[in-house]
Amino acid sequence: MAEKTVALITGASSGIGRAMARLLAGKGYDLILVARRGKRLESLAGELELSHGIAVWPLEADLSHPGASQEIYQFVQHKGVQVDLLVNNAGFGVNGKFSEIDSELNSGMIQVMIISLTELTRLFLPSMIVRENGGILNVASIGGVIPCPGLAVYTGVKAYVVRFTDSLHMELKGTGVTATVLLPGPTRTELFDKAGIEETSAIKRISMSPEAVARQGYMAFEKGKPMVIAGCINRFQVALMGVLPRCLVVKIVEYYLK
Ligand SMILES: NC(=O)c1ccc[n+]([C@@H]2O[C@H](COP(=O)([O-])OP(=O)(O)OC[C@H]3O[C@@H](n4cnc5c(N)ncnc54)[C@H](OP(=O)(O)O)[C@@H]3O)[C@@H](O)[C@H]2O)c1
Repeated sequence: MAEKTVALITGASSGIGRAMARLLAGKGYDLILVARRGKRLESLAGELELSHGIAVWPLEADLSHPGASQEIYQFVQHKGVQVDLLVNNAGFGVNGKFSEIDSELNSGMIQVMIISLTELTRLFLPSMIVRENGGILNVASIGGVIPCPGLAVYTGVKAYVVRFTDSLHMELKGTGVTATVLLPGPTRTELFDKAGIEETSAIKRISMSPEAVARQGYMAFEKGKPMVIAGCINRFQVALMGVLPRCLVVKIVEYYLK
């Protein structure tokens, strides 16, 4: 890399975000790492600074709090760095019937994965456009294009991320800046446990490592692609779901959840 570039990754304390941090550190990016578990971020920052000779700024922040995006932006301004790559990855799921899930948890998902993601994009994008360089990598899910009972709000939120990023990608044509959306399928991270989703054997069979998912997302970003579905099996399934009759789509989803 000719000059130092800076990436900001939300949700860098575990899973896909942590894998993305390690990947980008290996490519020479300086990093701003955001999540609630500050101790984890600090230890990751120490490890990456030592092993790659880069600068890493850990930032403890809760994206479910209104105003968190502004605080993150101000932190970055205060450090005097420009963000070249924004990875909006932080997220969580809550499994259960919509009518029974605590309303605050539903609002939390919307706040973290729609509102904060949109605000952070709005805050960091203009200076990328001025510099005619950089981009946004948003992490959605194949759930954003496939219906899933028990995850109504989660999949609705991810559908927003897919459509928002895809439209933004078109809008940015000719600016030198790109927007890419990454759609992982089942991935071996803390998400399933935290969401209370049982990892059925069908899910385990197709689940990917967070490292592979991060790599595919970054490659798509580098190529300026609007969208990437992680893994051949997920790509095949999404394509199939698009052409199958509704009753078969329901049967396939049920198979994975049983
Ligand atoms: N795992 C899968 O099967 C899968 C499939 C499709 C899409 N995805 C998406 O991939 C992304 C990463 O998830 P993952 O699988 O890597 O799960 P994970 O290991 O649970 O990581 C989620 C990350 O998001 C952060 N986060 C959650 N709530 C936050 C909040 N309120 N404020 C700030 N940070 C918050 C967590 O950090 P703290 O807890 O430290 O705050 C953690 O670093 C998510 O957007 C998820 O929806 C995952």
